[in-house]
Amino acid sequence: MTIETSGPGAAVGAAPGVEVRGVSKTFRTNAGDVVALTDIDLEVRQGSFVSLVGPSGCGKSTLLRIVAGLETSSGGTTLVAGAPVDGPRRDFGMVFQQPVLLPWLTILRNVMLPADVARDRSAAAKQRAEDLLRLVGLDGFQHRYPRELSGGMQQRAALVRALMSRPSLLLMDEPFGALDALTRETMNAELLRIWSETGATTLFVTHSISEAVFLSDVVVVLSGRPGQILDRIPVDLPRPRTFDVMESPEAARLTHRIREYLHARGAVG
Ligand SMILES: Nc1ncnc2c1ncn2[C@@H]1O[C@H](COP(=O)(O)OP(=O)(O)O)[C@@H](O)[C@H]1O
Ligand SMILES: [Mg+2]
Repeated sequence: MTIETSGPGAAVGAAPGVEVRGVSKTFRTNAGDVVALTDIDLEVRQGSFVSLVGPSGCGKSTLLRIVAGLETSSGGTTLVAGAPVDGPRRDFGMVFQQPVLLPWLTILRNVMLPADVARDRSAAAKQRAEDLLRLVGLDGFQHRYPRELSGGMQQRAALVRALMSRPSLLLMDEPFGALDALTRETMNAELLRIWSETGATTLFVTHSISEAVFLSDVVVVLSGRPGQILDRIPVDLPRPRTFDVMESPEAARLTHRIREYLHARGAVG
């Protein structure tokens, strides 16, 4: 099976996948204005994997939703593949902390939802769903219902659904935050494998510093609210990565550096 596109290696030096320029966001509420983000500049190279870390409430989800076109910014511009984002697009895949599967549909019907919405009843769409379910180890579970699957399996199904429309951009908001540590590690390894096969530009929000280091090409550290970028830390650990890499002095150095930032601001939860 081929799950296409370029693969991460092909993307080196390519045009930026995501460009965020001077983006700010103020929520107007009855209780007053909430400044969530100020003057964010962020570039995510096409095909690369970038994580956002920062304290709770610093605007990570807001930034992701702005890139996804689910939220408008109060200022600045957001470009994906050179084009301004003015709403959600079919070539964006989004995965949230909770898998948001419809309980009355089987796993296959759930992952086929994007195809159903696009009125694509083709055999190719079904084949792709089945191929992707196999890729994440869910073959044999197509006809089960979400409640019959563990949290990790449900999150894999949500990931398959996000991959159905061949996203060029994958946006993930603490997707493994609700999973136990062991399941989370397994999911991290699987995500890297899937990412390297699909080549999707990935922006990933996490609370876990080690998860960010393990997965990413670049870790972006945000300050407490209003969120501002404190640093962009390149992760030059070799790929493909296994958990052994996290025992290397380089991984320890990176983890330490990020932790220092967050603790310096009294920020880590
Ligand atoms: N729809 C909204 N209306 C008002 N305030 C909001 C809204 N969404 C988020 N906020 C506020 O914006 C700030 C950033 O939120 P969020 O992006 O969810 O942070 P994070 O994901 O980093 O925890 C928080 O103070 C939050 O309360
Ligand atoms: Mg959030």
